[in-house]
Amino acid sequence: MRIDILTLFPEIALAPLSESIIKRAREKNIVSIEAHNIRDWASGRHKKTDDYLCGGGQGMLLKPEPIFAAIEQLRTPESKVILMTPQGKPFKQAVARELSEEKHLIILCGHYEGVDHRVIEQLVDEEISIGDYVLTNGAIAAAVVTDAIVRLLPGALGDERSHLDESFSDPNMLEAPAYTKPNTFRDMEVPAVLLSGNHKKIAEWKQEQALLRTRQNRPDLLDEG
Ligand code: ADE
Repeated sequence: MRIDILTLFPEIALAPLSESIIKRAREKNIVSIEAHNIRDWASGRHKKTDDYLCGGGQGMLLKPEPIFAAIEQLRTPESKVILMTPQGKPFKQAVARELSEEKHLIILCGHYEGVDHRVIEQLVDEEISIGDYVLTNGAIAAAVVTDAIVRLLPGALGDERSHLDESFSDPNMLEAPAYTKPNTFRDMEVPAVLLSGNHKKIAEWKQEQALLRTRQNRPDLLDEG
């Protein structure tokens, strides 16, 4: 898979994708990730990438010309163009799964008040938001989306089971609390059932705890909230 990130801040997008699992996936050529500066496609002495809003209003908007030039250069008939924006559809695990099937993603990052709408109409296949809050720039959001996609690519996770387990679990239920050694730490015990070796009892306990946790932290998932 190939991922091209288009941003005014390539270093911000790349930093979290240059360590650990994603770094190894890149080294193993499971994915090729590049971040490009939109300014490289801007023209004129000042290489201007933004301008005032037509009709007035606070802030600046990314100009269409450099973005059209960049995407027209990078895209192939197999490319899918994504815009990171708080106006996008919510990014969920199911969206990550769908996008992990693509051959080439071009992820465009907004900045300031966003991008000229002609970019969205003509070039963007999907607008994605990583949550109901506003970041200073979309490069952080692009790194989040890229991380979630790349870990799903075959061979990216050392322990293949970690995401197999996940895909069998209920997407509308949070995971149960988990413990590791030591069995006693500062007078706090690992729940006895987890040390019992009784797999049926353990499964029941996990189910029950997952439900309690979901009810407490994400009642919206249970439609009880
Ligand atoms: N850019 C700024 N905020 C964002 C968000 N919540 N999701 C995606 N892109 C963004």
